[in-house]
Amino acid sequence: MSATTTAGKRIGILTSGGDCAGLNAVIRAAVHRATGYGWEVVGIREGTQGLLHRPVQYVPLNLSNVDGAMMRQGGTVLGTTNRGDPFAYPMADGTLKDRSDEIIGGYHELGLDALIGIGGDGSFAILHKLAQKGGFPMVGVPKTIDNDLGMTEVSVGYDTAVAVAVEALDRLQPTAASHQRVMVLEVMGRDAGHIALAAGIAGGADVVLIPEIPYSIERIAAKIQEVRASGRNFALVVVSEAVKTLEGTGVKKLLQGGEKRYGGIGDYIGEKIADATGAETRVTVLGHVQRGSMPSPRDRLIASAFGVHAVDLIAEGKFDRMVAWSNRGVIDVPITDAIARYSCVELDSALVRTARGLNISFGD
Ligand code: F6P
Repeated sequence: MSATTTAGKRIGILTSGGDCAGLNAVIRAAVHRATGYGWEVVGIREGTQGLLHRPVQYVPLNLSNVDGAMMRQGGTVLGTTNRGDPFAYPMADGTLKDRSDEIIGGYHELGLDALIGIGGDGSFAILHKLAQKGGFPMVGVPKTIDNDLGMTEVSVGYDTAVAVAVEALDRLQPTAASHQRVMVLEVMGRDAGHIALAAGIAGGADVVLIPEIPYSIERIAAKIQEVRASGRNFALVVVSEAVKTLEGTGVKKLLQGGEKRYGGIGDYIGEKIADATGAETRVTVLGHVQRGSMPSPRDRLIASAFGVHAVDLIAEGKFDRMVAWSNRGVIDVPITDAIARYSCVELDSALVRTARGLNISFGD
């Protein structure tokens, strides 16, 4: 696309939903590409919240404030939020109000020609609805440590989260061996077990529990006995946060404001293992550590490729698309397909077969 046909655009970029490593690398790449086209880039603060404020909260982005250091930083320089659906916005008096027109107004106030939204399925559903209602062009860049977005092999942030979980297992293994303990590591993943599965394989776990595969304590205990019988004095167990109790309930914590988040299944499983095997058991809940670190090289690479492609889509006038990773490269797909297709762990996937081939137990 020549600079002449695309010159003079002003595009917005925002990060929405939970943060993860690699968001800044997407922003940096998009700014580089857009600058190459001779465009202006505006970073909107805190997801769609920035468009609700008056004056609209934004920061001009250009090559002087988007440098190489930014690609290495975790989090998002723009800020983000995973609450406040503009179509049912929680007001101070406890009511819900449709504030979508204010957001659309904020977009037009900035004089934007298109918007890049970096988010997950929830954010995309909202951004898509806003774009349809407001008649503005939008493209999406997938990010989530959970890697549960459909239509892309990988989302920004997943690789780093797995690396952090593997590092945790690397650190737990020697202390487990020293004390002859069973170490249970609870990892994130909301409703999909991708992080647990990948980290369990790469981190040498004996047991991996994921929400997609029902388990029994007897099978887990049998695996731990098998490990003992082989002469090894410790075991590593990885549990995805969305794994249910034997009674079939998810374990969640009540947060301030009444919201709930997964957390605590590790303690539940740890206790059950201790009861069933007599093993000394310790539990580590990894939590937000998985989101916060420097992005891995692969996340930086994917984020950079996504940022460039998102800008190219705008240059080509292709909207309502999500950039995606497929077969060693970047493609784009209808954003509605990505929203509609949730991707949990497939039971016949290569990684499940790999885990079984390595004699990792799913407790089934
Ligand atoms: O979706 C990403 C994620 O980190 C999940 O893995 C986790 O369940 C959730 O977000 C935590 O949300 P919050 O940051 O609101 O505590």
